[in-house]
Amino acid sequence: MFSKRMTRRRSLWLGLGSLATIGISKGLSHKYGSSYMQSLDRKHKDFQVVGTASLRQRAAAKGLIYGSAGNYETLSVDPTLANSFAQECGILVPEGELKWGFVQGIRNRFDFTQGDWLANFTRTHNMLLRGHTLVWHLVLPEWFEKVVNRQNAERIFIEHIATVTKHYAGQMHSWDVVNEAIDLDHGRSDGLRQSPWLKFLGPDYIELAFRVAAEADPKALLVYNETAFEYNSSRDKARRTAILKLLERLKSKGAPIHALGIQSHLRGDGKADFNAKNFRSFLADVASLGLKILITELDVTDDELTADIDIRDRIIADVYEDYLSTVLDEPAVIAVLTWGLSDKVTWISEYAPRSDGKAVRPLPLDDSFQRKLAWNGIARAFDNAPKR
Ligand code: G3I
Repeated sequence: MFSKRMTRRRSLWLGLGSLATIGISKGLSHKYGSSYMQSLDRKHKDFQVVGTASLRQRAAAKGLIYGSAGNYETLSVDPTLANSFAQECGILVPEGELKWGFVQGIRNRFDFTQGDWLANFTRTHNMLLRGHTLVWHLVLPEWFEKVVNRQNAERIFIEHIATVTKHYAGQMHSWDVVNEAIDLDHGRSDGLRQSPWLKFLGPDYIELAFRVAAEADPKALLVYNETAFEYNSSRDKARRTAILKLLERLKSKGAPIHALGIQSHLRGDGKADFNAKNFRSFLADVASLGLKILITELDVTDDELTADIDIRDRIIADVYEDYLSTVLDEPAVIAVLTWGLSDKVTWISEYAPRSDGKAVRPLPLDDSFQRKLAWNGIARAFDNAPKR
């Protein structure tokens, strides 16, 4: 499905296109500009971590939850990967198995086989389970276009959400009820994406989805999950404003929404600017609505970075540590999930591969499941985080 350089999709998910590749700076514009980042000075940064406790344990010590996305295809056949998940993760989110096209690939025939396997994996290893995602404009089944119309859309929408949430009711820590509903390029004043659901049901489809999910699973934390608004570009700022407005609208209508999910697909190449103060103030605004915050899909691309593994790993680790130190300063942040645990299994290998053909290293563990500096960066941020 992914081409080697899927620029359009890449722009869509990062929401930035070629204009804003991402890096982190704290107030200083382009603190981590590429020359800075590649500089040998950074070789001296100390990523030391005390002890050998897992990310799960370090997070738990601060009242936080750490975990990762994982998938049936790899976890069911790779015991070393499965052991690493059991060791490091306090929560698991199925990477694709609960998306509409997987669960209801055939109309009215719900298939939870792989989702149930993953749910059972979490029970076996005493982990929490997260659901991703009930409503998304992508990964819709083939029958969708042929079958769904204005007359039947609401029934099909409610049926799907109710069936899936009921199936896992009582098992889910949280559900991404609606994913990526905002696209400012679609020209609406409310910033909403012209998704098929918007077309058939109007803008209230979001509220409806939360109400149906809450009724079917009153225990799960219900999350609105969004991408590409972490940086200081005018585009990301506008997306933050649109997200806040959407959250305010939902809250003012009494919709049962409990949290914002911040995907956090970050880039390590430093060509864009992260402003900790501005982002921190956005997090406070979200918290002031009475919402929790989850970091739901954290990873850091390295496709534009030097081939030197030592320098590359330091840069990635630094991005992890800086970003997490900022977000964990906000007490409403309750969980951090990376989008994968080991470099062996990451969507980044297809989505943002390196042009030199070398393996990408965007995650906490390397492709032999060993902890690397990215792991240290996350561990240090947990160790230094205020206690919840
Ligand atoms: O299931 C088939 C499998 O049978 C086949 O062998 C394989 C061959 O390529 O393809 C498999 O389907 C792939 C699927 O992942 C499962 O691996 C699809 O082609 C591929 O497009 C799909 O990509 C996923 C993508 O969402 C779309 O569902 C990525 O793994 C997953 O990481 C990505 O996750 C999204 C979040 O849901 C939302 N936020 C952005 C994030 C990254 O794009």
